Amino acid sequence: MKRSFRTLLPVAPIAVAVLFAATSTPRRAVAESATVDAAEKAEKCTTRLFTAMVGEGATPEALASSNPQASFAALVVDPRFQERFSRFINSQFNATPGATPAEDASYYLARFVLTQDKPWSDMFVGRYDVAPTNAQQAGSEARVTDDPNGLGYFHSRAWMVRYAGNEAAGIRIVAAYRMMQNTIGLTLAATTNAPEVDLSASGRKAAQCAGCHYNPWFALDKVAAVFGTKTGMGDTTRFTAPAGGPQSILGGVMVSNDRELAEALVANEAFNVNACRLAYRYLYGRIENSCEGPVFDACVDAFKKDKKITTALAVVAKDPTFCE
Ligand code: HEC
Repeated sequence: MKRSFRTLLPVAPIAVAVLFAATSTPRRAVAESATVDAAEKAEKCTTRLFTAMVGEGATPEALASSNPQASFAALVVDPRFQERFSRFINSQFNATPGATPAEDASYYLARFVLTQDKPWSDMFVGRYDVAPTNAQQAGSEARVTDDPNGLGYFHSRAWMVRYAGNEAAGIRIVAAYRMMQNTIGLTLAATTNAPEVDLSASGRKAAQCAGCHYNPWFALDKVAAVFGTKTGMGDTTRFTAPAGGPQSILGGVMVSNDRELAEALVANEAFNVNACRLAYRYLYGRIENSCEGPVFDACVDAFKKDKKITTALAVVAKDPTFCE
């Protein structure tokens, strides 16, 4: 009760001011300046939408439109958007650019997902492979192919080798972390790799390490245990299937291998939240702020329904607040 009273109060003076302005200015002038304002606002909005979506200015036709956000439908299928968004995703999913095209597997699969209008979850659980077009040349252009053993790009060799890590027993902690970062946006700073600390699995059980490696819901060593291990380096790197039993991770989910892990991650609410975070980062260059809660929630709800990243982008870009 008290709350609605308080929010109603400022309305009265504003309404009075508007009435006063309307009666004290000749009618035609008011109407004209309102049209100019609306046209200017629409132009600004169009420019903003084009810049955010394709990184370029708007066409004259789009600028003349009185409904700027209607341009979203054309922009979201524009090859410039598909290219730009895929590059953006690659920059969010990897700390540095890949040394070869296939190492930037997330770029190629993102572009595939967008051009084929696939669900975002295909990035992480879809049965694909991202590999060099010329198997003899690691540096050749990469492409996406169907692969019954594929797990998004997580089973693509260049990605696996890139994130194989250097752990002494071959435990793939680096891959475990990267998979959680890519799917649900988990962000950790690997604090300790100082030479004097014991880097072995038992060393990581020390209090100052277990807080990331063993105890939390994202316990890196437990998650890594479902990956199997790696041996060798570079071109000779080999990967084994997981040998340990199922692990209880992500707050009580039983997971035996990396496919079950990826499926559990994309089924988690954090996956939906991260998709909308990515939409905000792409469109605004930052994550959502607290007053954007209602739009953010609408984004999460819409994304949950069809798991399309373009649906998440649509909710944010077509909301009136995007043009304010
Ligand atoms: C704040 C969380 C955090 C804490 C605390 C932490 N680590 Fe890690 N650790 C990470 C992350 C994240 C990675 C993955 C790094 C990457 O992606 O390169 C990692 C990776 C590792 C690896 C594997 C490196 C590789 O190349 O395979 C070792 C070994 C390791 N940590 C040892 C330790 C030890 C020992 C401690 C305690 C002294 C410790 N960590 C504390 C987050 C943490």
